[in-house]
Amino acid sequence: MARLAVVGYASIDTIVVEGKPHRTIGGGAVYAALSAARYGSEVSLHVAVGEDFPTHWLRQLEALNIDTSSVERRSGGTRRALLHYGGREERIASTERDAAWWDRTRSLTPPLPRKGFDGYLLCPMPPETLAECLSRASGGLSVADTSEVFALDGASLKKALGRLDVFAPSLEEIRLLTGRHDDEEALQTLSHLVPILVAKRGRAGLTRFAKGERLDHTITPRTAIDPTGAGDATVGALTTALLADLSPGQQLRTAAQAGAEAVGAIGPGAFGWQIRQNSKEL
Ligand SMILES: Nc1ncnc2c1ncn2[C@@H]1O[C@H](COP(=O)(O)OP(=O)(O)OP(=O)(O)O)[C@@H](O)[C@H]1O
Ligand SMILES: [Mg+2]
Repeated sequence: MARLAVVGYASIDTIVVEGKPHRTIGGGAVYAALSAARYGSEVSLHVAVGEDFPTHWLRQLEALNIDTSSVERRSGGTRRALLHYGGREERIASTERDAAWWDRTRSLTPPLPRKGFDGYLLCPMPPETLAECLSRASGGLSVADTSEVFALDGASLKKALGRLDVFAPSLEEIRLLTGRHDDEEALQTLSHLVPILVAKRGRAGLTRFAKGERLDHTITPRTAIDPTGAGDATVGALTTALLADLSPGQQLRTAAQAGAEAVGAIGPGAFGWQIRQNSKEL
């Protein structure tokens, strides 16, 4: 089994679907870790959490075969997200974040992984933190995801890209990063900056570019119960498939399967995560 460090931010999410709130659900890198473990990696989660991060969540992650010995607890609160989905699965724009979110982002910089893992999955994080993580990742496979707010800082992010093995952003992030609105142009432009690009295209599936070769994986979209975490779950499974040396076609199939699983339940419920409402610890 390949040893994988999943590095990023864990969050405490409130997910509102069709007007109904689901409060206090584990999010962020939790999806990537759960998905990577489900698909066969030996995962060590590297996140810093606040005082409010429930202890039983850590136990739950351990029960799902995720090593939490590198999780650091720091003062203040965990980063929180409020996600709203309407009938058309629209999300609230995530390019705008408030001061509290940036404060938590700085205070909860992920613990840097040690050298020696087989793989490093670098979940959305500020470009300078990504660069620091990459200095630890030499010798292992490095895969990074990003989010819209970090893709806006295109110049800094682009500097780190050439040092990655695989970059797996969403199409919207690729548009922001390249400043190109035409999808094909944006994809082509970014594909020249990174050894392997896997573009997450939502209901259109996945597209991989490596050494000038393009591979499209189209999907039959299912009705999403909750689209949160599809991207993170996709990247968790993709990294596991890469570490297992699967063919590019199988890598994309595995990754897309995890994304489809993720949207089939509220929060990370599809990956065995138990959602307990109104727990005393919360
Ligand atoms: N409705 C769906 N049915 C089946 N598969 C889906 C669906 N939505 C997403 N997926 C799969 O999950 C992958 C990742 O989803 P998406 O492109 O939305 O990632 P993302 O924008 O990074 O999401 P996130 O907000 O979770 O970071 C898609 O490329 C697709 O393969
Ligand atoms: Mg994403």
